[in-house]
Amino acid sequence: MTDLNVEQLRGQFPALQQQVNGRTPVFFDGPGGAQVSQSVLDAMTGYLGRYNANLGGAYFSSHKTGELMVAARQAGADFYNAGSADEIIFGANATTLTFSFSRAIARDWQAGDEIIVTALDHYSNVSPWVLAAEEKGVVVHQVQVSEADCTLDYDHLQSLLSGKTRLVACTYASNTTGSIVDMQRVIRTVKASCDARVYIDAVHYAPHQLIDVQALGCDFLVTSAYKYFGPHLGVLFAKSEVLEQLRPYKVAPAKDLNPNRWETGTQNYEALAGFIAAIDYLASLSDDKSLSRRDQLTDSYRKIVLHEQTLSEQFIGRLASYPQVRMYGISDAAASDQRTPTFAFRIHHIEPRAVSEFFGANQVCIWDGNFYAQGLYEQLGLTDIGGVIRVGCMHYNTAAEIDEFFELLDQFFALQS
Ligand SMILES: Cc1ncc(COP(=O)(O)O)c(C=O)c1O
Repeated sequence: MTDLNVEQLRGQFPALQQQVNGRTPVFFDGPGGAQVSQSVLDAMTGYLGRYNANLGGAYFSSHKTGELMVAARQAGADFYNAGSADEIIFGANATTLTFSFSRAIARDWQAGDEIIVTALDHYSNVSPWVLAAEEKGVVVHQVQVSEADCTLDYDHLQSLLSGKTRLVACTYASNTTGSIVDMQRVIRTVKASCDARVYIDAVHYAPHQLIDVQALGCDFLVTSAYKYFGPHLGVLFAKSEVLEQLRPYKVAPAKDLNPNRWETGTQNYEALAGFIAAIDYLASLSDDKSLSRRDQLTDSYRKIVLHEQTLSEQFIGRLASYPQVRMYGISDAAASDQRTPTFAFRIHHIEPRAVSEFFGANQVCIWDGNFYAQGLYEQLGLTDIGGVIRVGCMHYNTAAEIDEFFELLDQFFALQS
């Protein structure tokens, strides 16, 4: 049981080796999109450079493309611990997949039915459901966050459930505050009250914590590979029994078979190649090559979680020493197992954009704004004041980079006085 070898793995990421205006950039923008390893780049150019073809042809590159599709589904099944590779569906990104499934899922909703979304979610997992509900006369409820630590208000969720609830759409972790949702608890609560389907947005959760759809017993779960060291590609899990009950919007001549019938048009095969390489990269963080890929992933995530908790403790501990800073989210360093290393905060009297511009000019990539988490911003009253500053770490970030962040923060404050 070894720890993550961060120096070694950083060497695999070209973006982390470059110099920009004489400085090595610090990527604290992981929640917006991760850097990729050389193996991901090689897989994408390798496919596109030699085998670019469509499916179903009687020649080598088309055969190769068919094999790639099968391998990508298996990589997805290993990543999610799905019971079958046929439960994995690819699409342009998480938002597009969710819009597509919301149309199919809402087909049999009736006026007066109810659905539940949350204020902790990115609106990628809110707006598709709200729009589908509007068309059907379905009532939408929104679960609030507990403002003290920006976690999901589970009691409020419980109070909104009824026999009329058809769907609960919920994030697995907030892309703004890093709060992790106790998804076992959510699913248990929902299934105890009604037979609503549960649609999970695990886009922010995926690079930080291991997903296990069988342990969760969820109906749907979606992620985006560009958040976990792969290319721009949406990856959805849908339980076989549920897929059988749904009817997709598809073109007539395309075969009416799961899972392909959900994948409209031509797939992004080079992205599938990069996705497989990203899953293999994650698995390679385990030292035990005798394990199955799934077991290697379990081991890799054990290491990722340990490293990221150390970063969280360091960051939260240091940030707490600035009285002019207000943090949004779990601010107890001892509770860093309940959060990802994504931190949201504001500095008294200072526009978040001014802070991110100062850091950007020093090649430290942080964000400001609302990150499409509209429900959270509305509840916290942050909408008209520029949102928050977001610093998001990944497993390739280091304690030294956090030190650099705080040195710059001190410089920023010195310039203000
Ligand atoms: C939590 C969360 N959900 C959904 C999305 C949307 O993902 P995509 O860009 O793949 O549509 C994002 C993107 O930032 C996100 O952070």
